[in-house]
Amino acid sequence: MSQKIRVIYNQKGGVGKTTIAVNLAACSAIRGKRTLLIDSDPQGNASSYILGSNKQPEKSLTHYYESCLHLNIFRQSIFEYITSQTRIPNLHLVACNRELEELRTKLENKHKIMKLKDGLKNNTYDHVYLDPPPANDFFSLACLIAATEIIIPIDCDAFSIRAAQEIKQTIDEVKQDHNPSLIVKGIVVNQYQKGTKHSLGIILELKKIGYQVLEPYIPTSIKVRESHSEVKPIVIGYPDHPVSQALFGLFDELDKSENKLDSQIEIKNIQAKQQSPEESKIHV
Ligand SMILES: Nc1ncnc2c1ncn2[C@@H]1O[C@H](COP(=O)(O)OP(=O)(O)O)[C@@H](O)[C@H]1O
Ligand SMILES: [Mg+2]
Repeated sequence: MSQKIRVIYNQKGGVGKTTIAVNLAACSAIRGKRTLLIDSDPQGNASSYILGSNKQPEKSLTHYYESCLHLNIFRQSIFEYITSQTRIPNLHLVACNRELEELRTKLENKHKIMKLKDGLKNNTYDHVYLDPPPANDFFSLACLIAATEIIIPIDCDAFSIRAAQEIKQTIDEVKQDHNPSLIVKGIVVNQYQKGTKHSLGIILELKKIGYQVLEPYIPTSIKVRESHSEVKPIVIGYPDHPVSQALFGLFDELDKSENKLDSQIEIKNIQAKQQSPEESKIHV
């Protein structure tokens, strides 16, 4: 099985990036995969969702980026900055806090945009989830460059279409300039109101733009907000709730297409090995 680095991206705020990143990471851990969640937003919402808001981490993404501002003989590794193992087995967290914002200009001036990707070399986690800020800025661009896959949550309002069009442009630029193998997994429909013409119309528009719309859709529920205050991902606190069931369904769907892709790659590798040395030279 190949490793995945998934960014949950949308420059629009409040669409459910943090909720989905944290809960997909929890689903991944529950399904037995070694999982790392990297909070890449100086607001630190993913960290608060896992640790509570009072904890000031001794190690964090801020500390990692700080170390990147100095010359180092050895390559810095993000894995030395894991904040906590979390209370969820298999799930580790690199937290983030407001101090990261203060490093932004220095990081930009010193052209450190590749540092997140560099720090993820020698990754031993099955799945890494990146939760960027609601902006098209240094920290979210660093995530798009480091990721192998992008998942785009939308919240079914009229501005979602425009945001999705802008995201397409951003992805094209990132692929062209930095990360040609980035895979667009598709749109996650969040805060879905069943059967409403409005939601269905938006989903249809997104498909017309050329996006794959992933299923199941995630319904709206007050339990999501409650799970934030309870400092417990909803898939852990209320695994049978319709929102949790949708999140598990979504995770399994992503995993299924991953397995399909993996076995295609495996078959191609076997076929390549079975070719004569002369034949395979031609294809190298
Ligand atoms: N499916 C949902 N149902 C109800 N509230 C939701 C749902 N998804 C997210 N929310 C709420 O919407 C707000 C924004 O979600 P969040 O995950 O922080 O978005 P983002 O990271 O994109 O800014 C939070 O208060 C969260 O609890
Ligand atoms: Mg967020």
